[in-house]
Amino acid sequence: MRRLLIVGNWKMHKTASEATQFVESLSKLISSAVSADIVLAPPFTALPAVRTALAGDQRFALAAQDVFWEEQGAFTGEISALMLKDLGCQYVIIGHSERRRLFGDTDDGIRKKIAVALRHGIKPILCVGESLDDREGGRTETVIREQLLKGLAGLRSEEVEAVTVAYEPVWAIGTGRAATPDQAVTTHRAIRELIRQEWNLDIMSAFHILYGGSVTPQNVGAFLESDEIDGALVGGACLDPQSFATILRVAQTLAQ
Ligand code: PGA
Repeated sequence: MRRLLIVGNWKMHKTASEATQFVESLSKLISSAVSADIVLAPPFTALPAVRTALAGDQRFALAAQDVFWEEQGAFTGEISALMLKDLGCQYVIIGHSERRRLFGDTDDGIRKKIAVALRHGIKPILCVGESLDDREGGRTETVIREQLLKGLAGLRSEEVEAVTVAYEPVWAIGTGRAATPDQAVTTHRAIRELIRQEWNLDIMSAFHILYGGSVTPQNVGAFLESDEIDGALVGGACLDPQSFATILRVAQTLAQ
């Protein structure tokens, strides 16, 4: 049976008390035996509240939305992998296009963040994706190849195996204009082939590639139907418990 991975990226939404209410509503809306892996990525400030509200509920795992590459020190405003581990984070989103575009995250910084997460046993979710300009100029695969090769540089195969890649076309994020399933499948194939070539990973079924960018309860099924798409990274549609629960139900159906 396929094990789909659905990640809810809350971005800068919800206070700690709103987060608690959200988790209480969501957990009532989904079945007790989910066959998809569900990851919640609240803002740093809501991580402890979400962890408490989950109370060890094994259906969910916790993710942070970013991490800094140093372990500790004079880095005002940053959060370390040790701190995330201590809060029970099993995953961390790294290299989201909003971080790349608005906060200057570079491929080299992303590489260091992935390395520190792996050192502390936190699974990185590496986001890659092309701009509209790149897509229209026929550069999608070149751009993604570069983001992957630089972000994963120096890692051994068994380390790469612990990484999840999220393909998120920049033009599809928060725009209501999702990629077509065909566009996603083509890019996922290229990503899988690159990982196979560079890291000689033949156990490809264990390597997760998610699609992200305007995923909704209405369109998620069309993505998850493909064997090439192992899950979704959901932004806007994960903020409402009903909408996120519907996405999870679709994933549940398709995993069977
Ligand atoms: P969106 O965001 O679903 O709101 O497009 C996805 C993401 O940025 O991860």
